[in-house]
Amino acid sequence: MKRLTVPKIRAHKKDGSVDEPLVMLTAYTARTAQLLDAHCDILLVGDSLGQVIYGLPSTIPVTLDMMANHAAAVVRGSYHAVVVVDMPFGSYERSPEQAFESASRLLKDSGAAAVKLEGGAQMAETVRFLNERGIPVMGHVGLTPQAVNVLGGYMARGRSDAEADKIVSDAKALDEAGAFAIVVEGVVEPIAIDVTKAVSCPTIGIGASSQCDGQVLVTEDMLGMFERVPRFVKRYEDMASVISKAAETYASEVRSRTFPGEEQTYQPKT
Ligand code: KIV
Ligand code: NA
Repeated sequence: MKRLTVPKIRAHKKDGSVDEPLVMLTAYTARTAQLLDAHCDILLVGDSLGQVIYGLPSTIPVTLDMMANHAAAVVRGSYHAVVVVDMPFGSYERSPEQAFESASRLLKDSGAAAVKLEGGAQMAETVRFLNERGIPVMGHVGLTPQAVNVLGGYMARGRSDAEADKIVSDAKALDEAGAFAIVVEGVVEPIAIDVTKAVSCPTIGIGASSQCDGQVLVTEDMLGMFERVPRFVKRYEDMASVISKAAETYASEVRSRTFPGEEQTYQPKT
């Protein structure tokens, strides 16, 4: 199977709608990427790895090195889905030139096909700059976690008319600048509908209703690795229990000398 391409993702939306929603999940490791690859159109190496993998309090401390290393692992573990890498906080906001330096490094080091960055109209010039120089960009509007210190938390966005209008105009600006898709995070359903109608590229929702052109979740959230998850997460498994139970059984077998048993033990040839 040949790997999907960015133009194919972009062309998924024709005449304002998609036949079938796009499927995106996060992946940070090669093995997870292998398991998700066949089921997804896009694997996102999200900067959510800050919390999920590194136990950081937010995505703010995530570095280009972290993103490049995990992106390389995900590319090695996949052969079908388009791999998109998040630009970490501080690596792209200053100027289109700064963004190009960071994005080109991410793609060179990993072999990923595209980057994602947060922000609206203020990032449009950067999106155009990168796209015209060979780096496809996915946008991200609504709840943008890298702005946590300005927003004061991770609440749903667009509850006032002014905020709603801004999210729609931000998405339009990114679309016009050439973004190939836009993540819409944490917005009420009417805004998801407005944004999806307003842009020619596919919208990919997270906490943004069923009305987007695709959906994304953080894989560990969807697998039930965490006790506390946002309301928009559906847990398809209870991996936290699976792992705790396995560790508990292993520990008790080691302590009672039931593990290793005969089957796991090498013996000299007789
Ligand atoms: O970092 C991430 O995982 C993301 C998705 C939730 C869209 O940006
Ligand atoms: Na992110």
